[in-house]
Amino acid sequence: MNVLGIETSCDETAASVVGAAGVLSDVVHTQAVHARYLGVVPELASRAHVDKLTAVTRAALADAGLERPDAVAATAGPGLIGALLVGLSFGKALALGWGVPFVGVNHLEGHLLSPMLEQDPPAFPFLGLVVSGGHTALYLARELGVYEVLGETADDAAGEAFDEVARMLDLGYPGGPVVDRLAATGDPEAVAFPRPRSPHGPLGFSFSGLKTAVRQHLHGPDRAATEDVCASFQAAVIDVLVDRLQRAVVQTGATQVALAGGVAANDGLRNRLSALASEGAFSLTMPPRSRCTDNGAMIAHAGRLRLVAGQRDSLSFGASPTWQPGV
Ligand code: KG4
Ligand code: ZN
Repeated sequence: MNVLGIETSCDETAASVVGAAGVLSDVVHTQAVHARYLGVVPELASRAHVDKLTAVTRAALADAGLERPDAVAATAGPGLIGALLVGLSFGKALALGWGVPFVGVNHLEGHLLSPMLEQDPPAFPFLGLVVSGGHTALYLARELGVYEVLGETADDAAGEAFDEVARMLDLGYPGGPVVDRLAATGDPEAVAFPRPRSPHGPLGFSFSGLKTAVRQHLHGPDRAATEDVCASFQAAVIDVLVDRLQRAVVQTGATQVALAGGVAANDGLRNRLSALASEGAFSLTMPPRSRCTDNGAMIAHAGRLRLVAGQRDSLSFGASPTWQPGV
């Protein structure tokens, strides 16, 4: 079954076809309009999706060598309501016009299951760490649709903290890739930033205190070089993420770990987790960087698994900005 996946939950307009053999096409257009505002402007995102979605979808079908897929999947939440509605309505209209089945896909489930598209994919049950601009959560993925939340953030998402720190340092938006690049040449021990705990238990996350610590440091008397601030901040985020993951491995006895979401593109995080995996702590699957940030392939894949399992959604399926996966 060849499934067209459509993703428009935030600032990427993306479409992809995934079939039995894997990803047949994967087209992502990242909206540039938000950079000057140092963050995503919802109304501009919706309009830019309207502008680009037809061309992106045509390209995805052409790259896959298809005129018509066997089914359509579109992100229905969580995300920006206007942006979601553009892709969801478009996906439903295509499914109606082609007379093929439709499913609405949860964006976080898309991220969580995206490592399954890689070589040596994780099989259920596995531990999934989803670290993105909007969410940071640790799941025990037991089976399709059954995802136990072991820990989530009490305040900011990890990606949000990267973006905010980049803003404080005048590094532009999105901040994660720039902070990552500068951190590579900085000293991670230059500034002793805190490793904040969550009020919600040992597997939870909290990043707002870390953000405040960076702000206070930047306004203080002994401001470190930008590279050193980036490296020290990034080291704190990575320590927290790795600590929770290791605790979760011990708590659940899980042997397979999957990393996903935009922050999974971070070099420092990838290197730390790869080192732990090569010591035999767990087997690790990480998508390539382009498949960590938002894309259509993860939506087509999650939708395809559901379609193959027999799920069909009606064309009255609505967008849901706060939809949590599998609970
Ligand atoms: O998954 P994603 O594309 O969108 C959401 O679902 O939120 O994640 C975007 C987030 C942004 O906050 C961005 O700064 C961050 O991922 N990001 C990174 C890196 N690349 C993207 N954070 C740290 N290091 C990176 N290399
Ligand atoms: Zn995302």
